[in-house]
Amino acid sequence: MLASTGKQRLGEMTDGLIEIRAEATGFVAEIGGVDLVGELSEADFEQIRAAIIRHKVLVFRDQRLDDNSHYAFAQRFGPLEGHVNRSTRLDALPKLQVFGNLDADGKTTGVHPEKGTLVWHTDKSYIATPSLFTILRSPFVARTGGDTLFADMARAYEALEPAASARLEGLRAVHDWKRSREKSDERPATADEIAAAPPVDHPLIRTHPETDARTIYIGNHASHILDWEIAAGEALLAQLEAHATQENFIYRHRWRENDVLMWDNRCTMHCVTAYDAAAERRVVHRAVVQGDRPY
Ligand SMILES: [Fe+2]
Repeated sequence: MLASTGKQRLGEMTDGLIEIRAEATGFVAEIGGVDLVGELSEADFEQIRAAIIRHKVLVFRDQRLDDNSHYAFAQRFGPLEGHVNRSTRLDALPKLQVFGNLDADGKTTGVHPEKGTLVWHTDKSYIATPSLFTILRSPFVARTGGDTLFADMARAYEALEPAASARLEGLRAVHDWKRSREKSDERPATADEIAAAPPVDHPLIRTHPETDARTIYIGNHASHILDWEIAAGEALLAQLEAHATQENFIYRHRWRENDVLMWDNRCTMHCVTAYDAAAERRVVHRAVVQGDRPY
């Protein structure tokens, strides 16, 4: 398994020109032999698409994407979506988002943008049709900290005792952007944001539409359990998160320059580890592919 020590014992499996090195558990693969900037053939694209479904998280090293090529690669997977927080959008490519700790002069602000990214979540679970894939690149990589952690929510589900998973069947979790921001001590949601993202509910255990895998669908945007006492629902969500984020379900991505990271939000959670936002420059550019309604 991929331990949080960052040691990756990746087995080698070469399939055509694209090299896919995957851990035996099937969680996370490193993709080599492909240039995401150039013309990606349909065959190569299909291999990458199959790999993301199979491995849940993909790591591409040594890529030289700019915003345009990042955007072009991402949109081959489907329509992209903007972010509720409009301040993160780029004017020229409004569906690409930038999060970073640099001011207009390139100096560090001392503040990590979006504190909600520091806690476990799955992207946009607070909307009716949450994100499918997220594709991230990082023009400025922190030297210490600022890692991205992933939890394999299908394996976490499989590891539940049968009695525990039976108890979760049929439950729905309420996901709420406004509440999520309160929990992560972020600036309060604006009236516009609340109007754009009112609370929604999703199955607590969802089925991956392409693999039929059952996955635990929680994270910081999940506020409580529908029709339960708030405190009891919060307690169940906390218990499930503690289970799912045990070391044996986690992959720690230590960023290198020119990495591109891609993940399937339907079967993973992720978060960023702390770093010194005054001393380290850390910027990510993000493209998000629209998903569909969880079931
Ligand atoms: Fe995220």
